[in-house]
Amino acid sequence: MDEAFLSQVTIRPMKIEDVETIVEIDRKVVGKPRPEYWKKLITEHPQNPYASLVAELNGKVIGFVVGEVSGWEFGVPDNIGWLTIIGVDPDYQHRGVARKLSEEFVKNLKAIGVKVIYTLVNWNEWDLLKFFREMGFTRGGDMINLELKIE
Ligand SMILES: CC(C)(COP(=O)(O)OP(=O)(O)OC[C@H]1O[C@@H](n2cnc3c(N)ncnc32)[C@H](O)[C@@H]1OP(=O)(O)O)[C@@H](O)C(=O)NCCC(=O)NCCS
Repeated sequence: MDEAFLSQVTIRPMKIEDVETIVEIDRKVVGKPRPEYWKKLITEHPQNPYASLVAELNGKVIGFVVGEVSGWEFGVPDNIGWLTIIGVDPDYQHRGVARKLSEEFVKNLKAIGVKVIYTLVNWNEWDLLKFFREMGFTRGGDMINLELKIE
């Protein structure tokens, strides 16, 4: 773990103005730009200070996590949180940035009473599965993923 590097990485709540940088990081990670997806995601969950965070290095956004806690706006959160998406700029991966983002995310949700955090990962995405396992996530027991193919 590169402690000197990580000590310069700060975590802060996401702002609407971060959207362009996040779209660019997401494009590098998934291979195609998804500006509409991001505009909708960020503007619909604007500045949720607990669950939507960015990692910054010298003022530049290098990673993000977006999650949800129902009811947080009213100060009476449900005890269930969701981690919707996490990503780190490939230029800065494998240096503990996602770990730092995820630890802050968990700490914030815990502080507002969340007891369990769910996330969905594609079975073929071994890197993400490994990452979530390292962060302490295990295979869920009480919820199952249902799907209906309509084409
Ligand atoms: C998965 C991802 C978020 C990890 O970011 P990162 O900053 O590189 O992760 P970290 O350096 O904090 O890694 C923490 C631990 O997770 C595991 N890990 C991270 N990336 C991994 C990979 N590619 N393969 C296997 N294990 C991995 C490691 O155990 C690592 O600990 P270690 O370095 O001490 O061994 C990043 O690779 C990414 O953005 N991937 C694409 C994400 C994506 O598709 N998101 C959309 C759906 S949610």
